[in-house]
Amino acid sequence: MRYKYGRPLNFHRWLDDNAHLLKPPVNNKQIWKDSDFMVTVVGGPNQRTDFHDDPVEEYFHQFKGNASLLIWDRGQYDKVELKEGDMFLMAPHTIHSPQRPEADSLCLVIERQRPLGEHDALQWSCASCGTVVKRYEMQLHSIVADLPPVYDAFYATNDAERTCPQCGEVHPGRDFKTWHQRLDVANPSL
Ligand SMILES: [Fe+2]
Repeated sequence: MRYKYGRPLNFHRWLDDNAHLLKPPVNNKQIWKDSDFMVTVVGGPNQRTDFHDDPVEEYFHQFKGNASLLIWDRGQYDKVELKEGDMFLMAPHTIHSPQRPEADSLCLVIERQRPLGEHDALQWSCASCGTVVKRYEMQLHSIVADLPPVYDAFYATNDAERTCPQCGEVHPGRDFKTWHQRLDVANPSL
């Protein structure tokens, strides 16, 4: 019998075989191609300033090391800690930014292919006041192909385009250190 996604594979062996991809600069690898369930392993270290608005649920199993999800909800920030061993099921449109500061941390992430017309978005918001500075919506067909051009577009913006319409602060773009420092100052309880 032939099975569309092959015979069962051994997870530990798969991790060993793909260890070189689960660290910078790639940090992730999807296990099966062209499946409705997009099953991905994500490694650290990787810190970022973008937030993802996903129209489908996302399942996280932080099976090695610790990570967190920064959550943005109508201008307010929150943090969901993903401690080693934690599972977390996140509802659609929970706007989140995975933070994986630990080298060698590993997380299994499962999400579904997007139904046509259900759009993803990437957004960047002001660390100090929470206002959205830039938001790009897209019909996501491929995580690998469809997201990098959006990052490139944001990183190519000038200071005027990254100026917060509410408080006037200039978003530092891909400089996550500066952005996170400002977030910590404005949200000491996070
Ligand atoms: Fe602001």
